[in-house]
Amino acid sequence: MGPNSPHSTRLVIVMVGLPARGKTYIARKVARFLSWLGYRTRVFNIGDYRRARLGSQHRHDFFDPGNVEGNRARSEMAEAALGDLLAWMGTGGEVAIYDATNSTVKRRATVRDRCVAAGLQVVFIESACEDQNIIEANIRETKLTSPDYAGMDPVEAVADFRARIAHYQSRYEPLTDADAEGASFIKLIDVGRVVVVHRLDGYLPGKLLFYLLNLHVVRRPIYLTRHGESTLNEEGRIGGDAPLSAKGTVYAQKLAEFVDALEQPPEVFTSTLQRTMQTAAPLSVDSNPWRALDEIDAGVCDGMTYAEIALKMPHEYEARQRDKLRYRYPRGESYQDVIARLEPVIIELERQRQPLMVIAHQAVLRALYAYFMDKAPEDVLRMEIPLHTVIRLAPGPYAFVETRHRLV
Ligand code: F6P
Repeated sequence: MGPNSPHSTRLVIVMVGLPARGKTYIARKVARFLSWLGYRTRVFNIGDYRRARLGSQHRHDFFDPGNVEGNRARSEMAEAALGDLLAWMGTGGEVAIYDATNSTVKRRATVRDRCVAAGLQVVFIESACEDQNIIEANIRETKLTSPDYAGMDPVEAVADFRARIAHYQSRYEPLTDADAEGASFIKLIDVGRVVVVHRLDGYLPGKLLFYLLNLHVVRRPIYLTRHGESTLNEEGRIGGDAPLSAKGTVYAQKLAEFVDALEQPPEVFTSTLQRTMQTAAPLSVDSNPWRALDEIDAGVCDGMTYAEIALKMPHEYEARQRDKLRYRYPRGESYQDVIARLEPVIIELERQRQPLMVIAHQAVLRALYAYFMDKAPEDVLRMEIPLHTVIRLAPGPYAFVETRHRLV
């Protein structure tokens, strides 16, 4: 059952579109968002099946609809991926994403019928591009780094890839009403310039649409930092709303210098707690306080040290050690609660097209870091987010690359 819904969720998202339309980018972003929210999500990419089973040496003629052997091999790969997808959904998967061109009505009907027969809800997402610049950027940025073209001359690789697109184009059928018999669809034209939605209902599909509406492909860095040291940090006490210490004030100045040296000023978000707002105060750009960015609420433990909690409430202390993700402080929050309240923050950060800086707190930044770095939240709950350090996430074609800058 999905983490935020009383209904059981079993959704198959079927990607549709010609090569170089950003299907894999969208599939991975959606998968990352939904798994971060707690849905068991997995992408099944046909290209990965082809490379793993048949190697990555195929040139464009393999994709020619007139190539009988190529057709047979490609339908076998499509079948293998779909079979694995259905099997995985049968073992408790909640959202599966079928990442392939699925370029004909007939093919899509087969996929849909197999999913519906297994009791699964189907949403098609078509990514179509009328803007040639988006396609060109996609070819350059993702295809040239694909294992299909490893070691190949870039000019030759681009020419081969264009020929591959032409093969698909010769029999491509965009989504139509016929595809929505027993299924829903979302058609994205030029990454959200136009969005067509057909027969979409339900909580999770609605969440998916909301996410897709805010997605874009503009690359910009994201800077994550904790506030400067607070007077409660000096004492090793958690939570509270203390002001900055003398060292913390120095960090705020250094951070202002760091921001001034950036190529492009970032949009800055803080929590509503003093220590983050004081850290942002010397910056030459405005900042936006946001309650959703406040630190995890430690409830009855707020203001205590970890040693005090272990001594006075050993059961609570141990319970948190055992399951840090789900453990909820009495009258406070769990990490899962924090992730749920950060959902609108993620939507806003995805929507923004300029560089971003988030000045927040350890638990909140762990949760945001997990989303951007595509990590399972449980894997980062013990990761140190040091004070007085900016974590810079630089965008690559599919993932961010992290660097850390210690300023004090
Ligand atoms: O110690 C600083 C702090 O931000 C506390 O306010 C917060 O409770 C804690 O870090 C979160 O880290 P952890 O989940 O590891 O206790």
